[in-house]
Amino acid sequence: MFKLKNIKFRDILTVDELELKAQQVTCIVGKSGGGKTTLLKLLNNLISADSGTILYKDREIDTYNPTTLRREVMMLPQQPVMFSGTIRENFNKTLRFTEREPASDEVFKDLLQQVGLNLPLEADTKDLSGGEKQRVALARVLLLHPETLLLDEPSSALDDETEDFIISMVVDYTRKRKGTLIMVTHAMSVAERFADVTITLFDGKIQRVDTLNGTL
Ligand SMILES: Nc1ncnc2c1ncn2[C@@H]1O[C@H](COP(=O)(O)OP(=O)(O)OP(=O)(O)O)[C@@H](O)[C@H]1O
Ligand SMILES: [Mg+2]
Repeated sequence: MFKLKNIKFRDILTVDELELKAQQVTCIVGKSGGGKTTLLKLLNNLISADSGTILYKDREIDTYNPTTLRREVMMLPQQPVMFSGTIRENFNKTLRFTEREPASDEVFKDLLQQVGLNLPLEADTKDLSGGEKQRVALARVLLLHPETLLLDEPSSALDDETEDFIISMVVDYTRKRKGTLIMVTHAMSVAERFADVTITLFDGKIQRVDTLNGTL
């Protein structure tokens, strides 16, 4: 799905060679400042490498129309920003801004249930806790059914039990739809439990790549 070769982004990230396969769950782990978010942003073409190539589906990533690319490959940022207004308004605006068909309250309620939120659609997002906002932001992304999900620490504001619930849900969702999930996580337990492949970044370089069958 993604093939990186000789990538350099400033002095922040260097990747000689990396392939991220479709229909896999990949976890990216490593110390703060190691380059995890930078790697996700490159995969979404939110930033461009200074040198090297990134192929997405065997075509250079920067030859895709950004809108087309981000319909297929969607990133949930580390600190998601809510639109002002209610949860319903957040869902509606998400659909409108991505030029999708409107959806019913039933769809929205199902999504809230999926992310374990027992809140009315009328709830104002400015009153939500950090973990609740994070889950509304995840629900907004799931509403759009991207083929590939790039999640940047989707459970950083959640307690262990809720983290487990959310990550299990998103992994099941991905596997059922034969999608691709690439997720930054601080929790090694998450990587150990769910990842087909775990990439450890340290100081802007890949330190190791572990697969279910061993270390590459
Ligand atoms: N646009 C930028 N300009 C300058 N430095 C940057 C930029 N983006 C990131 N950095 C620096 O690059 C390094 C890697 O940042 P990155 O956000 O990728 O780390 P991270 O692994 O996601 O860290 P964390 O776990 O804290 O989120 C950091 O030292 C950061 O300060
Ligand atoms: Mg980060």
